[in-house]
Amino acid sequence: MIYLDNHATTPLDPAALSAMLPMLGEQFANAGSITHAAGRAVAAQIDAAITDVARMIGAADDELVITSGATESNNLALLGACLHPRQTRRKVVSVVTEHKAVLDPLSRLKQHGFEIELVPVTDRSMSTAGLIDMDALASAVDDRTALVSVMLANNEIGALQPLPQIAELCRATGCLLHTDATQAVGRMAVDVDALDVDLLSFSAHKFYGPKGVGGLFVRRRSRRVKMQAQIVGGGQQHNFRSGTLNTAGIVGMHAALASCLQSLDEDQIRIAKLRDRLLKSLKSHCPNMRLNGPMISAFRGISGTGNLESVELKHDQLLRLPGNLNCCFYPVEGQSLMLALPDLAVSSGSACTSANPGPSHVLQAIGMSEEEARSSLRFGIGRFNTQTEIDQAASWLSESYEQLRKLIAVN
Ligand SMILES: Cc1ncc(COP(=O)(O)O)c(C=O)c1O
Repeated sequence: MIYLDNHATTPLDPAALSAMLPMLGEQFANAGSITHAAGRAVAAQIDAAITDVARMIGAADDELVITSGATESNNLALLGACLHPRQTRRKVVSVVTEHKAVLDPLSRLKQHGFEIELVPVTDRSMSTAGLIDMDALASAVDDRTALVSVMLANNEIGALQPLPQIAELCRATGCLLHTDATQAVGRMAVDVDALDVDLLSFSAHKFYGPKGVGGLFVRRRSRRVKMQAQIVGGGQQHNFRSGTLNTAGIVGMHAALASCLQSLDEDQIRIAKLRDRLLKSLKSHCPNMRLNGPMISAFRGISGTGNLESVELKHDQLLRLPGNLNCCFYPVEGQSLMLALPDLAVSSGSACTSANPGPSHVLQAIGMSEEEARSSLRFGIGRFNTQTEIDQAASWLSESYEQLRKLIAVN
């Protein structure tokens, strides 16, 4: 199988597996059991891992809450900050293209009496398709706004939102800024101070770590975010999130993130090249195929030379995640292409909304029709993909596209 669905999840990095195995074996003690040496030894390892993960996103160790993944982190950020008894503001502003793990907690806040405003994104006629409409955001955010939540990188079209600019708006009105950085952490440089966010969610399984573990950055130094725990019990993690720590998950997450950051620049360039190679091949073999989301030439434009090697990758200059591709094969349906290619793992949208098989709300938000959205495929290229795989995938897709297009023409 050729796996090009790295936005849904990623394969486990062997370094993460090696770090995890002792925690699943002889080092099984509870990190909270500081009454004995076995517990203290595990606690020391876990503390070191958490401190280092926090450092890797520019945070202090007491600013990182370990969770079960980004869904929980988003729930904790949104419900925890807005439902805190000292929060008096009653409006939350977010974006139409957010993941369900943000949109559903927002619906919950609506039931609690909050006004929720979702701002639109630029439509597909522009090179910045999928990027937040900053004018709409500026008029939505006011002194009644408790919190703004904008994802850093979109999970379907890879659009990278201008968080530092959004943060300026939030500072001016005194509201909190949360970002769902699930698709960004481990794939691009992420620093909570450079982004100037108050809350940031991430998940280990998106950066070659294990499933079921992630984190929420909660700012405590320059500004102190007040947050109400959503899971109560033993009072672990400064009372922000009770429950025995997932020790194997935490060391696995740490090892995986360390691996990603060690070769981040080279990987981004290599992955972007693979993505561009796939796009080029699909374009030349699939007439009428269209790219969904922000233009890729914006990525090449940074150096002015078009030479990826000389590109200095700074997130605020990029419009799209290097490994993301989303293409519309209309009139051929995405589902038909996937059925024709059982050895290729791609997707027609977010895996996390697979219980709801409707057309993508993200593609519709950039102005695509239901038919066009249903004719689209999302490709997520990752660290472990090779050029041979990309060429094979492109050839399979082109062949199936041609066959299906002929069938449609006959009927
Ligand atoms: C942008 C985004 N947010 C949140 C999630 C949910 O993450 P988790 O699976 O860790 O709960 C995902 C997973 O696809 C995602 O892509």
